[in-house]
Amino acid sequence: MTYFIGIDTSTTATKALLIDTEGDVQGVASSAYDYETPQPLWSEQHPDLWWQATVDSIRQVLADTGISGEQIAGIGLTGQMHGLVLLDANQQVIRPALLWNDQRTGAECDEIRERIGAQRLIEITGNDALTGFTAPKILWVKNNEPHNFASIAHILLPKDYVRLKLTDTFASDRAGGAGTLLFDIKTRTWSPEVTSALGIDPSWLPSTFEGTAVTGVVSKIAADATGLRIGTPVFGGGGDQAANAVGTGAVSEGIVALSLGTSGVVFATTDAPLIEPEGRLHAFCHAVPNKWHLMGVMLSAAGSLRWYRDTVAPDMAFDDLLAPAADIPAGAEGLVFLPYLTGERTPHPDPLARGAFIGLTVRHTQAHMTRAVLEGVAFGLRDSLDLMRSAGLATIDQIRISGGGTRSTLWRQIIADILDTELVTVNSVEGAAYGAAILAAVGAGQYPDVATACDAMITVTGRTQPSGTDYAKQHAVYSALYPALKDIYPQLG
Ligand code: XUL
Repeated sequence: MTYFIGIDTSTTATKALLIDTEGDVQGVASSAYDYETPQPLWSEQHPDLWWQATVDSIRQVLADTGISGEQIAGIGLTGQMHGLVLLDANQQVIRPALLWNDQRTGAECDEIRERIGAQRLIEITGNDALTGFTAPKILWVKNNEPHNFASIAHILLPKDYVRLKLTDTFASDRAGGAGTLLFDIKTRTWSPEVTSALGIDPSWLPSTFEGTAVTGVVSKIAADATGLRIGTPVFGGGGDQAANAVGTGAVSEGIVALSLGTSGVVFATTDAPLIEPEGRLHAFCHAVPNKWHLMGVMLSAAGSLRWYRDTVAPDMAFDDLLAPAADIPAGAEGLVFLPYLTGERTPHPDPLARGAFIGLTVRHTQAHMTRAVLEGVAFGLRDSLDLMRSAGLATIDQIRISGGGTRSTLWRQIIADILDTELVTVNSVEGAAYGAAILAAVGAGQYPDVATACDAMITVTGRTQPSGTDYAKQHAVYSALYPALKDIYPQLG
């Protein structure tokens, strides 16, 4: 038997997931770490943590399953996107990595729009400059730590630092490349126009590969450290969102992946590089060769429900809290919840946006408030879908949902009604690491392409159909509230 491993270098842990050729999960091991906030808005991690956690989790999953490194036919990598790893000419880490959730680069985002032109930037990269992306982080180092900037010889994303340690090669995947804001998403390679306008030496950037391409093989040092075989191929893989979409089988146009975790991510595969003209959606290359994707990221999705439970009913189980909300009419009798509890990314890239209950009266009970939270999050997800349609996504046939929030039947029904599309759940629950393992299996020739592998490995386990409940009036009110409040938010800060 041969097997594949997907490695996910996330913000909180590195996970190694081992599957067989049928896609059955044989074992998962994970090794946790923290990130630092040395100053307000900063978020950093030392790359050594990722490598040590990779070694530990690979060793652990091999030990747990009794499968030897000799039987591993390929490794797929995934992980947190957008982070900035800086190495000097001796391949030494120059400073801790700046992570995707670091917010220090507001001024550098303005600088990028100014140097390239806001519209031209969106045309080339598919995206507006957001504080989380990699390019503004590079400019921040240039503007604030010139001594560190002067030492740069290599720039990598977090999972590609793991790749370097595994294979001794500088390489990245194209989904990850697109998340840097230095990529031309149409040509699927670094944009000379953007790198030169920003003063970034192209020789610092790694070669990029499709998700199923071999990027290198496990070196002797890495084999000794991990228990893998020298020469094991390491495939491109993909950024965590693209790999998660592969892991749920959302790999062809018309099938959307919706992940309802702390944040809510709406992810649509596209056959061509669609771009939302104002850059309000992310437009990246997919981990699936020659596909692209649009993505909306809502910062507080299931996070809104958790905050609400912890604050209003800390002793209640979620099931008990949600049950009475099923008896409240759709629209919660005129009560609307705005889910911007941690600012927002899509469709309002506004760190100052705030949450709200609007329309409270003495008639409203806790059950109304609960229902309003569930509906408000669903309206936020709908915003991403509406932007996708206006960016040119012609059909949305099915939405594949994952994440803790989707366990509630009531919430699934509300989401299906507000999005007016069928929701399905699938048997795979391991997300990005599973997707990375699938990409490795395809890369190693086990399947002819990603769609075939997903069809063979992933099955639909449940369906929620829209019930026909009409939310149009409430949706119109919800949509009018952010524009009405956005000038108030800065006054609350
Ligand atoms: C994607 C994004 C997050 C990070 C962390 O755009 O910001 O998914 O990759 O997981």
